[in-house]
Amino acid sequence: MIGKCLFPVAGYGTRFLPATKSMPKEMLPIVNKPLVQYGVEEAIEAGMSNCALVTGRGKRAIADHFDISYELEHQIAGSSKEQYLSGIRDVIDRGVFTMVRQREMLGLGHAILTGEPLIGDQPFGVVLSDDLCLNKGGPGVLAQMAALYEQHQCSIVAVQEVPREEVDKYGVVAGVTEGDGLTRVSKMVEKPSPEEAPSNLAVIGRYILTPDIFDIIRNTPPGKNGEVQLTDALQAQAREGRVLAYQFEGLRFDCGSVPGFVDATQYVFEHYYGQPE
Ligand code: G1P
Repeated sequence: MIGKCLFPVAGYGTRFLPATKSMPKEMLPIVNKPLVQYGVEEAIEAGMSNCALVTGRGKRAIADHFDISYELEHQIAGSSKEQYLSGIRDVIDRGVFTMVRQREMLGLGHAILTGEPLIGDQPFGVVLSDDLCLNKGGPGVLAQMAALYEQHQCSIVAVQEVPREEVDKYGVVAGVTEGDGLTRVSKMVEKPSPEEAPSNLAVIGRYILTPDIFDIIRNTPPGKNGEVQLTDALQAQAREGRVLAYQFEGLRFDCGSVPGFVDATQYVFEHYYGQPE
């Protein structure tokens, strides 16, 4: 069983300025719940109740969100408003939250490596909370991937087909189809141009990684945009046939962009808000 999940939450969220000037982008709400809480709930549902947050300066609100708020709780105790806190209380009771600060933003690979002391020598999940994944009525994307890990015991990346002209926003994979939405990856490229891209299968922000990834990242030089790229480290595992790409069941919203954020808000309002959990 995979028990830990890493959340890189140190990024700046420049596309949402000025909202993100003094507030972490992961605390932006989709309707009434912060993005990062959706990710944490997905991880806990997948059995990964140990949540390792790789935070940065100005991100204290995230740590506070997963802690008790004495004043608030005292104020509304016994009132009808208490019900609004039950969801987050449940998350806090079920999860264990650990944190480490990433001092410099040197790329996703660097963020993952910064989390190594919180993860140790075991396979783990990764959630990029900008990508909101929902699968109403079925298992979440991370739970689907955890089940696959039990069978295959290798790194797994969630992928989805995107229009060719959008591949330059993603890590892109190519390989051999194994059926059931699974591809044995042989090639991974970070943010290729449409001409360079080996396919239109784009990595979205859900991963299961085997712990040897840490040593690989340590030896991975900066790549695209001068950043240490997780995609480049995964390429080393892929060369040995140790990465699967999984076309998951469910929807994914790119909440790192304003249109994706608005779509997610509309969808959650229509399909989840005010309905029993
Ligand atoms: C990161 C990864 C990229 C992946 C994407 C998914 O990019 O580097 O490979 O496809 O997340 O959202 P970012 O969006 O942080 O630039």
